[in-house]
Amino acid sequence: MSDTVKVALVTGGSSGIGAGVARRLAASGVKVVVADIAEPADVRCDVSVLDDNLRAVDYVMKEHGRLDLAFLNAGVASGCGVGEDFDVALYRRAMGVNLDGVVFGAHAAIPALKASGGGVIVATASMAGIVGIPLDPIYAANKHAVVGLIRSLGVALAPDGIRVQALCPSFADTAILGDARVLLEAEGFPIMEVDEVVDAFEKVVASEGTGECWFVVPGRPSEPFAFRRAPGPR
Ligand SMILES: NC(=O)c1ccc[n+]([C@@H]2O[C@H](COP(=O)([O-])OP(=O)(O)OC[C@H]3O[C@@H](n4cnc5c(N)ncnc54)[C@H](O)[C@@H]3O)[C@@H](O)[C@H]2O)c1
Repeated sequence: MSDTVKVALVTGGSSGIGAGVARRLAASGVKVVVADIAEPADVRCDVSVLDDNLRAVDYVMKEHGRLDLAFLNAGVASGCGVGEDFDVALYRRAMGVNLDGVVFGAHAAIPALKASGGGVIVATASMAGIVGIPLDPIYAANKHAVVGLIRSLGVALAPDGIRVQALCPSFADTAILGDARVLLEAEGFPIMEVDEVVDAFEKVVASEGTGECWFVVPGRPSEPFAFRRAPGPR
């Protein structure tokens, strides 16, 4: 892990990818604060609530006096589609956790990162932020939004010495897969171990870029996804 990271905040760190990252950070000597709605968490934080994010960062600053890395990782599957299976409460929840959670988390972390002389924000987007997902269009929509946010913030926060990166995993072996696991296994689609995503996270933190979206796909070394240049005016 990068030598410059002394204190980290991990949202959604009570299970899955967040827990794996929290363990790896702690093992390399980083002081880690886990913020989650589920146990075990150092601070209870519903990332879809702005005040909870502010409180989580306050807790980090009171406990450890600085913040070097904010891993904005909490996320949920949407649980509904846009047609007959639409459910406005599930839609709001998915957008609230997966998109608001990253916006609010970044908003809360930026002053603390600045006060610490700069740092890194890593958001867990998904490959669903890069390609369309017919099985869960709402999840794809909020993950695409996170990708757009990170690509934009990378440039916007460069003058403050804050790098902003997205981690875009394919399917990994965590609770979020739910019933989709059976479908994936039937299709023979490889499901990654959490550790493979954590390895990619380490590469992202050690990288020097900003505004990048690193894919994490079975059997391929992780690297920033190469977006095509958009056509400019002629
Ligand atoms: N596992 C995959 O296949 C996969 C692939 C791509 C992206 N992701 C993303 O990875 C991230 C982590 O998910 P995971 O796979 O580890 O699943 P997970 O279900 O194991 O972990 C998600 C964590 O987020 C927490 N959480 C949920 N709602 C929250 C809220 N409102 N406030 C705070 N915490 C909340 C949960 O309690 C849990 O600890 C998510 O953003 C997910 O979308 C997962």
